Amino acid sequence: MKANVIHEFGPPEVLKYEDVPDPQPRDGEIRIRVHAATVNRVLDVSLRAGKEGFRLPVLPLVPGVDCAGVVDAVGPKVRRWKVGDRVAAAGVMPLEPCPENCAGYSGPEGMMGIKRPGGFAELVCVPSCAAVEVPQGLDFRAAAVVMRHAPMAWNLLFNVAELKRGETVLVMGAGGNLGTTGIQLAKHVVGAKVIAAAGSDDRVKLATDLGANFGVNYNTQNIKDEVLKLTDGKGVDVLYDNVANSKILPFAFMALGMNGRLVTAGAHGGPNVTINFAHLYHKKITIMGRTGHKEEDIPKCFAAAAAGKLRAQIEKLLPLSQAREAHRLVESGEVSGKIVLDPTLDKVS
Ligand SMILES: NC(=O)c1ccc[n+]([C@@H]2O[C@H](COP(=O)([O-])OP(=O)(O)OC[C@H]3O[C@@H](n4cnc5c(N)ncnc54)[C@H](OP(=O)(O)O)[C@@H]3O)[C@@H](O)[C@H]2O)c1
Repeated sequence: MKANVIHEFGPPEVLKYEDVPDPQPRDGEIRIRVHAATVNRVLDVSLRAGKEGFRLPVLPLVPGVDCAGVVDAVGPKVRRWKVGDRVAAAGVMPLEPCPENCAGYSGPEGMMGIKRPGGFAELVCVPSCAAVEVPQGLDFRAAAVVMRHAPMAWNLLFNVAELKRGETVLVMGAGGNLGTTGIQLAKHVVGAKVIAAAGSDDRVKLATDLGANFGVNYNTQNIKDEVLKLTDGKGVDVLYDNVANSKILPFAFMALGMNGRLVTAGAHGGPNVTINFAHLYHKKITIMGRTGHKEEDIPKCFAAAAAGKLRAQIEKLLPLSQAREAHRLVESGEVSGKIVLDPTLDKVS
């Protein structure tokens, strides 16, 4: 099969598109014919550049921390999946062979694309417990992108902040991955009122196009004043911030109302932010940080996407052979939506 392989860390040129033996599924594993794999700033680009050494990637490495596609072969002891099933896989998973449902597995674990071969290949083997069914009506490209961002947004908004129908959420960094996902889940899944805030008019427009009730450009407008105006002075119930912009977040924090909840899973614009403690206790605000997601939320995200409630923001599709170009694009910061590699495009190009 064809795969992108990293033999050393460095610039995009270290990605070698080469022939490698087809992987063979071991006990409890399935082999997926990949139709889509997302390209990510940290877990792919930064890792390839050698800046993620603490994750202890194993070289030579087929990168790609997720994939969606069709089951192409099943290993011994696999009962849950059959050839032809539509699946997606991502995240931390067993590294050693394991029983079909991974029950009782106590061996080493790690992410595909970091500790075991990943999705930048025509074929990839994963433990069957790491695969999730992709419903009919959801294409593989959308499934890969939804799996990457939506379960985390779901966890932050619904499990952690407990956002409810009729409540108001302020989404910061609204044009980004977690932002665009959070807007759609909040609006179309629970029926919350969404105020989307971003640093450019284009990103604000994207957010309102996705369903946000109101948009605020926090580089040209005062975020606190605008939000208080939009909420009749009450403030919002939930502040969903995954940026930690030290110049903006202190003002957004003042727009949190009584019993407000601030949830976060990111701080790339910070990480240090000053907040008003008097507002914190007077308004009985709770601040909650979380990483990761709950496995049981992935099918819920897929169902929302299949029902048209969640549109994946895909900027560009590229053939597997153009992984270097994909890395360059993500590294340049010129793209706002997701870059997805699709090995089936190599066959027709
Ligand atoms: N996506 C995930 O599933 C995931 C998983 C784990 C952790 N995280 C963390 O969550 C955070 C958000 O992820 P994301 O994928 O949504 O990010 P993103 O799309 O790359 O960025 C979100 C927004 O942050 C603002 N921004 C970007 N760079 C900035 C900078 N240097 N300073 C200040 N603002 C900046 C931009 O908004 P404006 O310019 O409009 O303000 C951008 O639209 C990151 O810290 C990420 O590490 C994400």
